[in-house]
Amino acid sequence: AHASVADIFAGKYTVGEHVTVKGWVRTRRDSKAGLSFVALHDGSCFDAIQVIALNTLENYADITRLTTSCSIIAKGKLQASEGQGQALEIDADSLEIVGWVESPDTYPMAPKRHSMEYLREHAHLRPRTNVMGAVTRVRNCLSQAIHRFYHERGYCWISTPILTASDTEGAGEMFRVSTLDMLNVPTTEQGAVDYSQDFFGKETFLTVSGQLNVETYCTAMSKVYTFGPTFRAENSNTSRHLAEFWMIEPEVAFADLADVAQLAEDMLKYVFKAVLTERADDMAFFAERIKPDAVTRLEQVISQDFVRMNYTDAIEILQNCGKKFEFPVSWGVDLSSEHERYLAEEHVGAPIIMQNYPKDIKAFYMRINDDGKTVAAMDILAPGIGEIIGGSQREERLDVFDQRLAEMGLNKEDYSWYRDLRRYGTVPHSGFGLGFERLVAYVTGMQNVRDVIPFPRTPGNASY
Ligand code: 4AD
Ligand code: MG
Repeated sequence: AHASVADIFAGKYTVGEHVTVKGWVRTRRDSKAGLSFVALHDGSCFDAIQVIALNTLENYADITRLTTSCSIIAKGKLQASEGQGQALEIDADSLEIVGWVESPDTYPMAPKRHSMEYLREHAHLRPRTNVMGAVTRVRNCLSQAIHRFYHERGYCWISTPILTASDTEGAGEMFRVSTLDMLNVPTTEQGAVDYSQDFFGKETFLTVSGQLNVETYCTAMSKVYTFGPTFRAENSNTSRHLAEFWMIEPEVAFADLADVAQLAEDMLKYVFKAVLTERADDMAFFAERIKPDAVTRLEQVISQDFVRMNYTDAIEILQNCGKKFEFPVSWGVDLSSEHERYLAEEHVGAPIIMQNYPKDIKAFYMRINDDGKTVAAMDILAPGIGEIIGGSQREERLDVFDQRLAEMGLNKEDYSWYRDLRRYGTVPHSGFGLGFERLVAYVTGMQNVRDVIPFPRTPGNASY
């Protein structure tokens, strides 16, 4: 078995012990004294381990031709390092070259700073960069921490379907899934596409949210969550929209809006702590290269209660702040990114839990407040990115729900199974959706959600 670089730096091997490490060259430097310093990384942590190769090694001439990304296997004794950087290095008995990099001069990931746009164009090679390595480890740490958070609190993870007939958000932003022959589409007598002849016998889409499905399990299992991919055919070419993104959606029975607002706050603090302790190396890199306060702001957020604010008060703040917005503000408008960011960045300087939005800008399933004008909805707005969470208390009262469907011109029959949850042992329940890429972008300070997911899907781009 071979040692990972992370395990070596974590102290799982002792000085003097023989280890084998396998990975790729980050850099190489030769000394006149007849030795070569090869920095080997294997993706297990941010830092590379220094391998010292003496000119007594039989393939020393080859070693001095190693370039970035050559793959190697080093065997040798672990020793305390005298140089700067990590405390341990390897005194190599052998350094086997597994794969050369052909034409290092034209290798697309040559060791220099590349723009994020350039890296996106080389999505198959960008995992090798420091920045994508750090993003990938932080992303992994966050997803593991999220599962751990819910597991520790007794939540059941529910796998909700990706193929679905329902438009949860009612925004009509769905990708259609069909096996019909596009050149010879069957039509009804009225000339519409005849989906009864399609694979599922009806029009089918990629899911925009697992919420409606997870509500069915919530009303049996009490505390549940989904964590899976979701899809939106929004034609938004922004730094915070993806056509395919991952969402975490907890749903809690006998819980009101305040309960799930607190759950969201607890979850965010839990995962921030996990990242600060488990990925201190990567976070230090983000602080150095991407966002100077990457670490300190998370520490600060963890130590404070989140500010809770009503939509109506937010509108007043935006109207009286003296700032000119591209989209004018009045009661009833949906907050746009510039408003969300002003509130989170300039007004509060930390994430805000925004609550009780006008019902007309929110989805059909949200619970109507006693004022009759607003719904028990919440969004969490974060500095630098805006909305990272959207959630609500669900309308559990059948009569009120039916009235809302009618008001919105929606068909009762289309919601029969969802209505059943209100007919058979209904309970107050609430939940939210956390956009995973927006969370990763917030934590790392990365500017664009395309750079925190391995293979971003955006309008006009689904390569790889
Ligand atoms: O606010 P949204 O649309 O809420 C829902 O889908 C609810 N059904 C969730 C629930 O209550 N269970 O989306 C939730 C979150 C947003 O706050 C945002 O972080 C993220 O999903 N999101 C996107 N992330 C990346 N790209 C997109 N196109 C996104 N659309 C939403
Ligand atoms: Mg939303």
